[in-house]
Amino acid sequence: MRLDGKVALVTGAARGIGRGIALKFAEVGAKVGIVDLREADCQAVVDEITSSGGQAIALAADIRDEAQVQAAVTTLHETFGVCTVLMNNAAVMPAGRIHETSPEDFDHCLAVNLRGTYLMCRAVIPTMLEHGSGSIIHMASITGVLGLPGIAAYSATKGALIALARAMSTDYARDGIRTNSVAPGTIDAPMLHDFVAAQSKPEDIRQQFDDMHPIGRVGRIEEVANVCLFLASDESSFVTGSNYEVDGGLSSKGTQPQD
Ligand SMILES: NC(=O)c1ccc[n+]([C@@H]2O[C@H](COP(=O)([O-])OP(=O)(O)OC[C@H]3O[C@@H](n4cnc5c(N)ncnc54)[C@H](O)[C@@H]3O)[C@@H](O)[C@H]2O)c1
Repeated sequence: MRLDGKVALVTGAARGIGRGIALKFAEVGAKVGIVDLREADCQAVVDEITSSGGQAIALAADIRDEAQVQAAVTTLHETFGVCTVLMNNAAVMPAGRIHETSPEDFDHCLAVNLRGTYLMCRAVIPTMLEHGSGSIIHMASITGVLGLPGIAAYSATKGALIALARAMSTDYARDGIRTNSVAPGTIDAPMLHDFVAAQSKPEDIRQQFDDMHPIGRVGRIEEVANVCLFLASDESSFVTGSNYEVDGGLSSKGTQPQD
């Protein structure tokens, strides 16, 4: 039970990677707050966890809204005690090059991916400081490290999350709060499914995603959740300010001329 005694809050946990992380955290002993816009799906994840003997609570909230964020954190504290693991996972990904991205989509992307993360940290950190420990993990993306076409606004927020985790690590290291980021390559999860479905040749694009990773396939949700579990647990007690690339070798790949 690697997270025994921990209380974790996972944003964007109603489906996809966030759901996978919440299930993993609960499986190894954490009590988990499931935060998402999708109220019914939050409850479904809670039911899944409780039916296997775990503990979780549904905390439907829009992380762009300060009052809703604060209310979710207060309910979590009242129900399970001090939140010692914050997994900032919720995100949106508007498609398009910058001149094709509307100001509304750009602002929305910043508001969820970056401001939502900031609001969550702001709500959780004071109690972590009193408690003297905590692990905060920002879900970035390999697009925050590498240039990939058609998702520049999203990529900018992901690069910022890596910088945010690094900067925060220096602010809180002496307070027992560690902050790290995780940068997945392409993962077999709804964000990928939505992107592929919107392309003119979905099957070709899906194959290209597999082929572009040196490992020869896209990643699985559990492979991201396992790294988040390590960062959430005390096993990573000397790890702070780091970015973990979970990308099947994508960011290590060079290119060479073809015949
Ligand atoms: N799927 C991939 O290939 C991939 C690759 C790299 C990084 N990531 C990152 O992993 C995370 C999860 O991705 P996913 O594929 O599971 O996506 P997803 O779209 O399934 O999950 C995102 C969740 O966030 C929630 N959400 C959106 N806006 C919100 C808001 N304002 N308030 C509260 N919740 C909100 C959504 O309802 C959804 O349940 C994201 O941060 C994404 O950027 C995904």
